[in-house]
Amino acid sequence: MKLWGGRFTKETNQLVFNFNSSISFDQKFFRQDIGGSIAHAKMLAKQGIITDEEKELIVSGLQSILEDIENGNLEITDEYEDIHSFVESKLIERIGDAGKKLHTGRSRNDQVALDMKLYIREEIDAVDNLLKSMLTTLFNIMKENTETFMPGFTHLQKAQPVTLAHHMGAYFEMFKRDRQRLSDIKTRMNICPLGSGALAGTTYPLDREYTAMLLGFDGPTLNSMDSVSDRDYLIELLSALSIIMMHLSRLSEEIIIWNSNEYGFIELDDAYSTGSSIMPQKKNPDIAELVRGKTGRVYGALVSLLTTMKGLPLAYNKDMQEDKELTFDAIDTVKSCLALSNEMLFTMKFNKNILESSAKKGFTNATDAADYLVNKGIPFRDSHGIIGRLVLTCIEKGISLDELSLEEYKSVCPAFEEDIYDAISLTTCVNKRNTVGAPGKEAMEKVLKIYEEYLLNT
Ligand code: ARG
Repeated sequence: MKLWGGRFTKETNQLVFNFNSSISFDQKFFRQDIGGSIAHAKMLAKQGIITDEEKELIVSGLQSILEDIENGNLEITDEYEDIHSFVESKLIERIGDAGKKLHTGRSRNDQVALDMKLYIREEIDAVDNLLKSMLTTLFNIMKENTETFMPGFTHLQKAQPVTLAHHMGAYFEMFKRDRQRLSDIKTRMNICPLGSGALAGTTYPLDREYTAMLLGFDGPTLNSMDSVSDRDYLIELLSALSIIMMHLSRLSEEIIIWNSNEYGFIELDDAYSTGSSIMPQKKNPDIAELVRGKTGRVYGALVSLLTTMKGLPLAYNKDMQEDKELTFDAIDTVKSCLALSNEMLFTMKFNKNILESSAKKGFTNATDAADYLVNKGIPFRDSHGIIGRLVLTCIEKGISLDELSLEEYKSVCPAFEEDIYDAISLTTCVNKRNTVGAPGKEAMEKVLKIYEEYLLNT
């Protein structure tokens, strides 16, 4: 079962074996391990290090192992230390001596570095697809809501009116950046460590360019010590995943607030909410809360791996085995959170009337009222003070700015005229804001065109 019994005179203590072994989690990449071995065998034959017949035996043996695992005819069991030992032992069992040549010029150190990169490359694509679905959902909400007015907040206080399209557009930008980050990481990590050996390369005439090419890498890594001990790309990935979770968590927080009785901006679909065992009236946003909560877990993975790596001398150290469980867990967490958030967003209802009436309250048009006076020739600092006083009057009377009479306006400043009401109407306040990136309908339509192109081409 073991790949390294030769120099030992005693059996490994069972607790040591259990503590050391990684098969319970590295079996996740049996496909990648077998794929890497097939490429390695092909290269060994091309270089004349093994014969073509041996290569044929190895390749078909590995393929049969792959098929049998996939069909459920071969179970990965825990008497093996890791997935590498399992596959190699099964190969030798099936094809005999030729199987013993597979590991020529290779170490588990470059093998595991390869497997993990192959695995992560695919997972990055899976996360990217989920991000794209999220963007599509956001885009559709935006398209339908370029004139759905709602309050924009700063300090969680009503600030200026925006539209639902504009608010959702902010998240579109966030998740778009998340995709760019993943793509950057993929480009940087896509160089092949196979052929680096344990740490110092090998004396066999390996063709590393060839295996890199067979496995879809841009080329071989250039330093064998770094190749077997680099986990930067995982730290970068965990950082990108943490940022995705931070974005999902902010969105969740808004959903939780918007779904509260006090706000009533949205209603979550029954299928994406939960009830209370004691309070019959409750409909709770548990999914959003769980997404917010699981963010800590992904941040934890990032800090954990950074800490694991910080004191490691070159080159490979067993500490690095710790990279797997936490990375797998972070990826699984992000994938499920993205999928669920997308569904929750897709199925929830926006209460447009409440959004709009909320936008009208809270003096969200006060800046526009001040700008109105500026257009009448009054310096902004003075107009700011004048509107401030009017706001105070309104608060005392319990009314909004558009409910003040023209006389009341004029008594504070004679520059006010009948057109003040149009200038501070919700429609004007939003649709006059047409600088690039602003909520005005004209500006928003331009951005939506750009997003449409983006979704078609990426
Ligand atoms: N399970 C190990 C890991 O994940 C594989 C590499 C083992 N290498 C070694 N020299 N023990 O890192």
